[in-house]
Amino acid sequence: RIARVHARQIFDSRGRPTVEVDVLTGDGVLGRAAVPSGASTGSSEAWEMRDGTGEYAGLGVRTAVGHVNGEIARAVTGHDVREQAALDKLLIDLDGTEHLARLGANAILGVSLAACRAAADSLRTPLYRWVAELAGTAPGLPMPMVNILSGGLHAGRGMDVQDFLAVPASAASLDEAIEMAIRVRSAAADALAARGLPTLLADEGGLSPGLETGRVALELMVEAIERAGLTPGRDVVVAIDVAAHSLWDAAEGRYHLAREGRYADRAEMIEMIAGWTEDFPVASVEDALDEEDWQGWTLLTERLGDRINLIGDDLFTTDRRRLEQGVRLGAANGVLVKVNQNGTLSGTLDVIAAARAAGYVPVVSARSGETEDSFISDLAAGTGAGQIKIGSVRTSDRMAKYNQLVRIAEDPALGFAGMTGYPRLAAGL
Ligand code: PGA
Ligand code: ZN
Repeated sequence: RIARVHARQIFDSRGRPTVEVDVLTGDGVLGRAAVPSGASTGSSEAWEMRDGTGEYAGLGVRTAVGHVNGEIARAVTGHDVREQAALDKLLIDLDGTEHLARLGANAILGVSLAACRAAADSLRTPLYRWVAELAGTAPGLPMPMVNILSGGLHAGRGMDVQDFLAVPASAASLDEAIEMAIRVRSAAADALAARGLPTLLADEGGLSPGLETGRVALELMVEAIERAGLTPGRDVVVAIDVAAHSLWDAAEGRYHLAREGRYADRAEMIEMIAGWTEDFPVASVEDALDEEDWQGWTLLTERLGDRINLIGDDLFTTDRRRLEQGVRLGAANGVLVKVNQNGTLSGTLDVIAAARAAGYVPVVSARSGETEDSFISDLAAGTGAGQIKIGSVRTSDRMAKYNQLVRIAEDPALGFAGMTGYPRLAAGL
């Protein structure tokens, strides 16, 4: 049972304040969790509470921390940490608003995740096994999609598209997948250096070369894969996160491809992306269109959805109702899963279950602002989600998650997902 809850303000990988929560149980177990934070956020995400004034240009989280140490601590003390669903419901009811805006989703998520860790530890169960039990799923090791080239809001808009990622398709194990990703990341840096281009780090540890078009970036991805001694389309396939919501110009009613110096409407965006999938080994595209363009998403899915993964991030914001709307409309065929978009662990597990039931692939994902907390690795493994998106294979906020996967992989009972998260690929590429 929860004996004490204590939150503090710590700092994320961008040097911004974030919430960390300690949950202490009566039998002396400490569960600790830190909350991540996005930059290219969807409008329907659970509410991240910032102080708005004062230190850190108003980005402080002292108010949210105060809510944990006051109202939330009083409400959850004495609660059984093993009753995760009941605890999360209590937190949601206590907040009382749709997007957890009263107490702050960052306050609530911190408590939810810390309680889960405390429960696992008090049961002497590895976290991923406890998550599997809560979710009623078979655990397994996910295939990573690894950030290689970054643009958009993660790299000063140096490229229009936010992420170009490598998926080590032919890897037979998690270890091999990480090894291949590290080779591609290094080869990409060499390829850029050979062209006299910058190899600056972006927010998720990827490279920020500031390339002008998606095509040039994809050519560079292919070159990097080949330089790494691997075959594009066979050993490594490419995933893209367009993050189109951050390109959307509401006044124009079109997408602003600033680096290309042009605007594109919905049809032109779909054409551009279809063209990429014809000429390059692209297996997955996330947020190809704006978060409110449901009709466009349906058209896109009719066009490409039987060949590649079309992942909704800002579109679904890890929200069960938005996902259900997408399923009804035939929008996308996969969902990005971010714990802080949802606000509780139980709500997040719910979204993964709903995705599975609808035949949508889940991709457990980090945020661009991260901490050393590696909860998502246990979440992905515990739910057997099949895919994880952590960022690049650089910087300790990202490596903490890969390293946790390496530890989890020591369990001989766990299989590696391989490309099972890409069920449509056999027909494509
Ligand atoms: P964010 O980026 O954390 O800045 O939202 C990650 C993503 O768009 O997938
Ligand atoms: Zn995204």
